[in-house]
Amino acid sequence: MTTFDDARGLPVTAASADAVRHYDEVMDAYLHFAKDTGVHLKQALGADPEFALAHCTKGYFFQLFCNRGLDAKARKCLDTARALAENNELTQRETLHLHALACWVAGDLAGAAACWGSILISHPRDILALKLASYTHFYLGESARLRDCVAQVRYAWDESVPGYHAVLGMHAFGLEETGDYAAAEREGRRAVQLDQEDLWAVHAVTHVLEMQDRRREGAAWLETSAEHWGRGNNFVYHLWWHLALFYIELEDFDRVLTLYDEQVRADTKSDEYLDICNAASLLWRLEERGINVGNRWTELSEKSAARIGDHLMVFPDVHFALSLAGAGNDVALAEMLRSVRNSAGNPGVTESQIAAEVGVPLCEALAAWYESLYELVVDRLMPVRYQIRQIGGSHAQRDMFWQMLIAACLRCGRAQEALALLSERTALKPRNVWSWRRYADALEAAGETEAAAEARNNAETLLAA
Ligand SMILES: [Fe+2]
Repeated sequence: MTTFDDARGLPVTAASADAVRHYDEVMDAYLHFAKDTGVHLKQALGADPEFALAHCTKGYFFQLFCNRGLDAKARKCLDTARALAENNELTQRETLHLHALACWVAGDLAGAAACWGSILISHPRDILALKLASYTHFYLGESARLRDCVAQVRYAWDESVPGYHAVLGMHAFGLEETGDYAAAEREGRRAVQLDQEDLWAVHAVTHVLEMQDRRREGAAWLETSAEHWGRGNNFVYHLWWHLALFYIELEDFDRVLTLYDEQVRADTKSDEYLDICNAASLLWRLEERGINVGNRWTELSEKSAARIGDHLMVFPDVHFALSLAGAGNDVALAEMLRSVRNSAGNPGVTESQIAAEVGVPLCEALAAWYESLYELVVDRLMPVRYQIRQIGGSHAQRDMFWQMLIAACLRCGRAQEALALLSERTALKPRNVWSWRRYADALEAAGETEAAAEARNNAETLLAA
């Protein structure tokens, strides 16, 4: 078999240029979180059923669902790609992709990331390796790597290379997660200027606005952008989740519940992990603020109960546990806790080690929250608060656990600890209304009436701004 150059000039082993053109469409769709990504992949494989990199990519896509039920399909793609590699000499880059998939299906996320890292040194325009490296560093909580895996390939990219917007968008997100908000916003806005349908770039700018508590600006940014989301897959629910977060911070809870029902959880049939994570963390935030969420936990709990034995990533696992706890499904929650503990500590399985260190205490903490055992919540969360980043996700997503820790301190009378944490938090997020409200509560509990009034006043002033 021969090779044909893809849209970025990388040789791809395939039967025809036509198959590689379809493969280019797969990459373009993937970069846009497009609903029709699978359709293009089918076309690529239809044009060349022996297209090894396309089979490998199909395996990657199954892995991205992070669903134990798709394991067998991912393995089958790997087996097919390997069998094809025996008959056709693949390029070194393609062989490394097969190694990466093998590591990934074996649970060795760090090994997979190392393969994509090697590819990017020799092939900085491999957008698939870049996107997957970025994804993995994100879910391993490796924010510096998330930023630098993109920064290190920038020399090979400019506006003439297809997909440049995606590189800017990915870089923007890494810059945001490492706290360089000005650079992140600049890169992210430039990416969106180049391509308004680049949902990841829209998302990167959204995170900057979230981290800086630019609530009204953030809501307007997303509401304006939403007309360009028509091509998007379920990732758009995450963007709606961000819009709901801005409205939580604006304390417009009716709007949040409407967004929840009409957008964030518009598809109540979905059991995709990110959809469950969005929904569960939104319901927890609402309940912490005293809002009745009705029976919304029930369907999340039903989907989560089916995922108890997944343990592919700690991040979704803790949100499955949260859904079971929120719904009061004690039997399934107990089973989940047992299952998480049993899955933890397996050497060679990256996420299993993270589960041992952080996943188990997080699950125990949120189970304790729903039993009103707030001392226990504090005892579980306080020692691991600087390790929580290992479960991956963004600062904005993990913030739920910091809010839970602070709220639990207040609810069990540990006002001094709450004061210390809120002193930290108001320094880091001086425009955050929730922080000033809870700071006022902590000061009040500590007998600092005047300072409490001042903190409350700060909250009102910020909210009105
Ligand atoms: Fe996000």
